[in-house]
Amino acid sequence: MHTLPRPHTPCGKAREGCFLTEEDYDTVIQGRSSVVVDAKSGEIVAIFLHRAIPATACNLARQVFGTIDETTPPSTTRATAAGVVDEAQVRKRFPQVAELIPVGRPNANGDYCKVKFKRDDGRVMTDVYSNPVQSYKGGYNYYRFGGYGIKTGFTKTHPQEWERSLPFFQSIDAALREALPEAHAYHDSVLPVEFRIPGTVLTSVAINCNYRSACHKDIGDLKKGWSTLTVVECGPYEGGLYVLPEYRVAMDVREGDVVFVRSHLQWHGNTAITGKGKRLSFVVFAKEALCKARKPPDFPWGPHSKRKRKRKE
Ligand SMILES: [Fe+2]
Repeated sequence: MHTLPRPHTPCGKAREGCFLTEEDYDTVIQGRSSVVVDAKSGEIVAIFLHRAIPATACNLARQVFGTIDETTPPSTTRATAAGVVDEAQVRKRFPQVAELIPVGRPNANGDYCKVKFKRDDGRVMTDVYSNPVQSYKGGYNYYRFGGYGIKTGFTKTHPQEWERSLPFFQSIDAALREALPEAHAYHDSVLPVEFRIPGTVLTSVAINCNYRSACHKDIGDLKKGWSTLTVVECGPYEGGLYVLPEYRVAMDVREGDVVFVRSHLQWHGNTAITGKGKRLSFVVFAKEALCKARKPPDFPWGPHSKRKRKRKE
């Protein structure tokens, strides 16, 4: 494996919510398995494995998720990763909103990535929104009102297709186990089996379609865990480089390549994607909150009960 010792430059905070460009890196990793190492501490920052996911697994992912952007509405909960709020984009998705109220802290430029909605009658709604992006959830999520682990997104809406896709996720898990056996064993020791993507030590996935994420750190990941990034291509495209601005490194993650990174600790984002094709990226990771989650009760009055659903119908 090729080793790249890189100096650490703490610039991520200044770039928070901004789109990363070729100004943010001076080395591109592509086509060769490499490990980025912090030049001072010697710690592993990221591992890039070239063609570690078998073609059969990638084909399966393409079959199952290739049209996810055509069937699923965009996400408006990606916060900083969705970039500085573009009022026109948000209004296009929610035309009825009277006023957008910025919330959270501004970034270094004084811009906001999250808003709340104010209605005509002056009432400010509690939900928080960000720019709509083509990013879709799967696997398990933590339902904080009950402390439950629950199926989310594609896993809930397309259970049979989800089941069919599992060998793809299991291939990512196998690559993680081989590259970082201690991290894999740690995930295995702390995550309840019932909230894992079956046959893996990972709980959740974000499936992104041509989504240019702005500079951010992931939130809610397993604190001592690792996250994975895999790409599946649907037609030709350019760009979409995964950038670690604090190490001035970019990775051209192509079909079957996989990256392991502690994305809740490292600032990251990706460059613009151009061309006719689709870049489907899969961020498969473990959620810290699911370590302590409970199984949802099957009470008739519970939030997901069949009786309640029937009554609504
Ligand atoms: Fe991220």
